[in-house]
Amino acid sequence: MSIRSTVKSVLGEQNVRRVRRLKRRLSGQPARPVAQVKAAPKPTGLAAISGDLNKLAVHFKTDKWGAHRYTQHYQRHLQHLKDEQFNLLEIGIGGYNRPGQGGASLRMWKAFFPKASVFGMDIQDKSFVDEDRIRTFIGDQSDPSSLNAVADKIGELDVIIDDGSHRPPHVLTTFATLFPRLKDGGIYAVEDTQSSYWPEWLGSEDLDDPGTSMAMLKRLTDGLNYEEFVDEDYQPSYTDLNIVAVHFYHNLVIIEKGKNAEGSNKRKALKDRYAKPAESTS
Ligand SMILES: C[S@@+](CC[C@H](N)C(=O)[O-])C[C@H]1O[C@@H](n2cnc3c(N)ncnc32)[C@H](O)[C@@H]1O
Repeated sequence: MSIRSTVKSVLGEQNVRRVRRLKRRLSGQPARPVAQVKAAPKPTGLAAISGDLNKLAVHFKTDKWGAHRYTQHYQRHLQHLKDEQFNLLEIGIGGYNRPGQGGASLRMWKAFFPKASVFGMDIQDKSFVDEDRIRTFIGDQSDPSSLNAVADKIGELDVIIDDGSHRPPHVLTTFATLFPRLKDGGIYAVEDTQSSYWPEWLGSEDLDDPGTSMAMLKRLTDGLNYEEFVDEDYQPSYTDLNIVAVHFYHNLVIIEKGKNAEGSNKRKALKDRYAKPAESTS
């Protein structure tokens, strides 16, 4: 056995290395560089921005970020679905009747949700956008049978985004038809609600005009509190019973579907105050 290996076996490998380092330091020699742990290669291209909806919107050239400021809100409301397998339907694929144009937002959703199936519906044929995990349908959102036919083909609907004609009567028809078909726990979004105020888009300057998208969406907020209504005979509507949150942003509204039945904190005193007078028996 050599002297070196005898020393090693007596002191142990680690102590031998310590002695060597000490010797080097005392003799003024520079320390040997410690072996570096190789860092994982930084993701590049699409992978580098796949967690950031604003950046994906810019990359795919949808106006959901830039002209509008929607993706920051979608990021917050849809983040929980990031790695889930689910179905997303967007009404309005983009490009209108221009051949070969549109599909930007569908591609953005596909990149952000690696396991989702992304569906688009447009009044124009956008089948050139179809690819793995993206499927398009031709359909008119002002026609309930057209909306139902598309929903039938998709099956379960977890997320619905209305970015179609933005004409309030169409927005109302689409919501009335598709919201009941949205899964419990699902998300329904209405974009470009500014058209609600524009008569030339079939909106109205009257903020309370019941035919506008904003008036319909604002009504939903009262439904959140239907259990507090004084009228004991009030019959809650489908939306009263199945909406748990309505989020209003600039030109964007996001609705959370769920069972709205937390119970009332209506105090007995209040109940008595508004109680109907007992019917006279005489
Ligand atoms: C604003 S673009 C959609 C943009 C796309 N979602 C994006 O973010 O990249 C609106 C689309 O709605 C479509 N559209 C208009 N009226 C419609 C209707 N009644 N039913 C379905 N789609 C309609 C248009 O053809 C157009 O392509």
